[in-house]
Amino acid sequence: MHKTIVICGASRGIGKALVTLLSKDQAFRLVALSRNVEALRRDYEGLTHVEIVPFDLEKDAEEQLKNVLPNLGPIHALINNAGHLEKGKVTELGMELYQRCMQVNFLGPVSLVKALYPLLCEGKAHVVNVSTMGAYQGSVKFPELTAYAASKAAIANFTEVFAEEQKATGIRMNCLCLGAVNTEMLRTAFPGYEAEITPEAMANFIADFTLKSGKLFNGKIIPVSSSTP
Ligand SMILES: NC(=O)c1ccc[n+]([C@@H]2O[C@H](COP(=O)([O-])OP(=O)(O)OC[C@H]3O[C@@H](n4cnc5c(N)ncnc54)[C@H](OP(=O)(O)O)[C@@H]3O)[C@@H](O)[C@H]2O)c1
Repeated sequence: MHKTIVICGASRGIGKALVTLLSKDQAFRLVALSRNVEALRRDYEGLTHVEIVPFDLEKDAEEQLKNVLPNLGPIHALINNAGHLEKGKVTELGMELYQRCMQVNFLGPVSLVKALYPLLCEGKAHVVNVSTMGAYQGSVKFPELTAYAASKAAIANFTEVFAEEQKATGIRMNCLCLGAVNTEMLRTAFPGYEAEITPEAMANFIADFTLKSGKLFNGKIIPVSSSTP
């Protein structure tokens, strides 16, 4: 039987690498969500086990998925990988940019979980939320990332409470706090900084964690970084 895996934020960076990796195994049915789907559609044309769905975390989740949900069946994993970063001093960032970070990094993923909830229950899904080391308590911090880091801390805390609340349903939820990965997001936020970790290497780790560790971890916020602290 197919295992259905939903990946949000699939168009580039770590999410794209996740789709590329997992699509090699026909045992998985992938649902790839992103705003920009043209390139994804071209890249995965002809692969019937990869479904590409336009999806914006700033818009109503249920409305956008209403044609997809009836045929989806049990979901075994959801990777909330999409992210949005705003950089600027607290005195310079407008409230609309704080709201945008909260929407894409916290409220949007929560509404996606709510929209998929019955199917996540059916599949006793492992939900993996992708956060950042900047949201991990006690980690080294960088200035100008208050909006991004705080919104990513919100999804981390959500993970702990949701996992406790949902124990009886069999849904598991964990949060991975990533260190630097060489993607467009990092290159835009920190021009000239070269991260050693490739999107493919991180996707490998996230895929492995998602598929194998749902029984071992639940409600955990896990740093994925070799930096100290
Ligand atoms: N790269 C790093 O160093 C690093 C470090 C720590 C944590 N992370 C986290 O890792 C995850 C992946 O990051 P990345 O570096 O691969 O970033 P990226 O290259 O900027 O890709 C971000 C992904 O999120 C999607 N996305 C953005 N806004 C969206 C929206 N409103 N609705 C739906 N999808 C949206 C984008 O797709 P569309 O634009 O097509 O919608 C894209 O596929 C993010 O959550 C990020 O915060 C990254």
